[in-house]
Parts: sequence; structure tokens; C-alpha cells
Amino acid sequence: MSAAALAVVVASCAGPFPQSALHPRSDFGGAVDRLFFDIFWWAAFVFVVVEALLVIALVRFRHREGRPTPKPAHGHTGLEIAWTLAPAVILVFVAVPTVRTIFATAGEAPADALQVGVIGHQWWWEYRYPDLGVVTADEMHVPVGKSVRVSITSADVIHSFWAPALGGKRDAIPGRVNYIAFRPDSAGDYPGQCAEFCGASHANMRLHVIVDSDSGFRAWVAAQQAGPRLPARGSLAERGKAVFSRNACIGCHTIQGVSPGIIGPNLTHAGSRTTIAGGMFPNDSATLAQWIADAPALKPGSIMTRMQPPLTDADIAALVAYLEILR
Ligand code: CUA
Repeated sequence: MSAAALAVVVASCAGPFPQSALHPRSDFGGAVDRLFFDIFWWAAFVFVVVEALLVIALVRFRHREGRPTPKPAHGHTGLEIAWTLAPAVILVFVAVPTVRTIFATAGEAPADALQVGVIGHQWWWEYRYPDLGVVTADEMHVPVGKSVRVSITSADVIHSFWAPALGGKRDAIPGRVNYIAFRPDSAGDYPGQCAEFCGASHANMRLHVIVDSDSGFRAWVAAQQAGPRLPARGSLAERGKAVFSRNACIGCHTIQGVSPGIIGPNLTHAGSRTTIAGGMFPNDSATLAQWIADAPALKPGSIMTRMQPPLTDADIAALVAYLEILR
């Protein structure tokens, strides 16, 4: 390998790569990471032994003038037993931790684990907290140091839920529920994405798992459990609420007490999220306005189409103002 190529490889291992399974932040992530390095070092050991024997054979038995042909080792019972047994023993050392890790990460969790239901949609994630009465989208909040049991399914096609720092990917299959369980060990925002091809915007189906401090999580739950904020009288947001209520928005989105739609994300607390559109874009007024005006332009194939007839700029500004007060 040339020095330049080596430099590229080394450089690609450094730097900020938040979606890396090599920086585990949960018990599940740690178990997979340990298994990976276990197997990596066995593979490295086998590589070194095999290459060393090869080089020794090449040097020692190379052709020299006048030297007789070396005696073949064919039929050497001791050697044949050795090179059958040695790989079998190494495979046992690989198989035992592998099987142990498969069982340890099969989705079992303590009875007091936080239950979160994940539902894949084209192309965003819905999160339901059945014991807390919370429904949200794009960003899953969990408390640090507590076991979480995630039940995963899909509303349409097969997706795959994957937040690499916290756990392995697991498929979201319509009509079936799969489980993962993990206990996050440090607070932070851990990005992930859909890991199963699910249509035009598969690559735009991101997610965030936000691991909060204990008190931060309690505050988040309390805010989510409250009803939607009411716009101030005569405000732009109040006009936005009227625009929302008389347009097709209500057919797809729930805002508690305002509209019952279930096709798109629940917007009761849309303003509290940091991202929109499946974790793709920042939740700021400029992006929201672009999204409402023409979602498919930002995200190919988006099921939220352009409104017909199009909304006026004034209506869009009012809608944005309304969504932003829904904290
Ligand atoms: Cu959902 Cu890929």
C-alpha cells in the first residue's frame, strides 16, 4: 500500500462519525463492539500465522541448483490432525461469544424497562410511549442509565431501525413486532437511519435517539403529556391554526383537540423537535416554510404532496408561526 493510500485509510478512521458502531454508548452497543474486536483479533492471529508459514515455506523450499526435490508432507497423520483441530478450536472461541451475544441482545429487558413502540412509515419514524401516553416522531427520547425496550413494527413496507451507537439494526415489518432492548450509558443525541431499502426516500429516513438526563427526560415527558399550546388572540399563530383547520393538513396530522389525522407525524408538539421530515432537516422557520410549500422538492417521493391549489405565502407564514408555538 502506498503511503498516500495508507494516509487516506488512517484519516478516515478519525474525525466525527456519529453513526459509528465502534463508539458504543449502551450495553447492547458495548456487547457488539467487544464481539467485533474478539473476532477481529482471532482473524488477525490466523492471518499472521498463515502468512508466516507461507513466507517460511517460500524461502526455505525455494529452488536451488543441484538440490533434490523436497519430500512432500502428504500422508503425515500428525500434521493432518493438527490442522483440523486447530481451526476447530479457534471456531469454538469465535462461536461461543457470538451465540452468547445473540442471546444477550435478543430484546429481553427488565420488567421496569421503559417501553417504546417504534413504527416505520415512508419515510419517518413514529414513537409511542404506551405507559406515558406520549406520541411523537423523528426523535425518540429516553433517560440515561435506564433499560429501554423497543417494540418495532411498520405501517407500510419493511424498514429497519438502526441507531448504531446504541444497538444493532432490527427490521420493522408490517404485521409483526420485533424487539430490541438497551441501556444507554451516556446522555447525547445519537443519530441513526433506516437500514432497509423502503422506496424513493429510503436514504432520507433518518432518526435521532436523544438520551436525556433523568430530570431532562421527566421534563420532556411532562411537556409532551400537556395539550397543545393555544395561540395568542390576534396573533399570526392564531391565523395559522385557522389555516391548518380549513386545509388538507387535518386529514393526515393529529394535533390533539384540533385534528385527528394519522397518516403523517403527530404535530401536537411539533415545535419541540429539533428536526423535521424524518430527522432530515432543521426545524426552523425557513425550512418549515419550504417543506409546507413543496415537500417532494426537499424529499423525493414524499407522501405529503404540494397543496392544490397552492397555499399563499401569507398562509404558509401563518402555519409556520402556529407550528413553532406547539412546543
Ligand atoms: Cu425505511 Cu428504508
